[in-house]
Amino acid sequence: MLAFRKMLRAPYRIGMFGLGHVGGALARRLVEDADAIARAANRPIRLEAIVVARPQGRAAPAPLMTAEELIARPSLDAVVELVGGLEPAHTYIKNALSAGLEVITANKQVIAAHGPTLARLGRLRFEASVASAIPIVETLADTLAADRIRSIIGILNGTTNSILGAIAGGASYAEALADAQRRGLAEADPSADVDAHDPAAKLAILSMLAFRRRIDPSHIERVGIRSLEPVQLAAARRRGFVIKLIAAATMQDDATIEADVRPRLVPDHAAMARVDGAMNAIALDAQYAGSLVLQGPGAGPDAAASAVLADLVRAARDAPASAGSLLASLADQPAATVAPLGPKNPYPAAS
Ligand code: HSE
Repeated sequence: MLAFRKMLRAPYRIGMFGLGHVGGALARRLVEDADAIARAANRPIRLEAIVVARPQGRAAPAPLMTAEELIARPSLDAVVELVGGLEPAHTYIKNALSAGLEVITANKQVIAAHGPTLARLGRLRFEASVASAIPIVETLADTLAADRIRSIIGILNGTTNSILGAIAGGASYAEALADAQRRGLAEADPSADVDAHDPAAKLAILSMLAFRRRIDPSHIERVGIRSLEPVQLAAARRRGFVIKLIAAATMQDDATIEADVRPRLVPDHAAMARVDGAMNAIALDAQYAGSLVLQGPGAGPDAAASAVLADLVRAARDAPASAGSLLASLADQPAATVAPLGPKNPYPAAS
């Protein structure tokens, strides 16, 4: 152990914004798994400071301070942003990058809306922003950098996928949503999930990385799951379909982009139909690599913390921030025109 410790570099010191479900899971991993993480990163990773909205009387695994104090702390190498939502998270990220800190975030809304301009300010990593534990962000930006992605089809929201499954199993919408909230799957404001803002933001991020075009997430047409009735799920089932909230995007040879998020009828023999609960799946059509499918836990504290940790280990090793660099390269592009896929591919829209 001593010989191993001697080989390590100085600790990588981090601060954290937010101590909710994901922040708590990350803080636990950093303590309970400290040796394995240090071996992976070739240096210990230390949580030195935390910012929470209401610090009075709050127990925390590191000293609590204000955002200004944390960003001004001279010993820090990086900050992890786990507040979620656009503000104040966007300001925290911008200020931290401007102060020379590396930023790791799980925030899909900020990355979808401001990723390209933020990534020009400094090293920005956001593996946890899409599909939590599924390693899709750096896979698109790094592993598949030389390929050409033609389409993305996925289930990108664990909360709505769990709700649809629970309703099909007889639960009410309210019970199913409460269960997703209890399990730490839902966003702080669950309308982000059920009205499909969350998967639309994730689809915007994936599309920017896959198609190398700047996408404005508000240009992606969204249809959520609020208006789906249990009888529609049952009727679909009788006809051999499962209703899933599908996020899909394609880019044609003429660079036209079509994308939307909407409930779709998926044939019950299709692999996507068997992606249940908090699982997500992403199918890519790549010109050279062919058809790729990545599937795994897409929501939940441990799944998200696992993706944040992957970025932290890369940061501590000084590995390139490929996805951040790719977004930065799009910063001067105007937003691409995005038309809805509508009832076309990949599966007919549920009605
Ligand atoms: N609320 C999100 C979901 C969390 O349910 O997928 C993971 O991004």
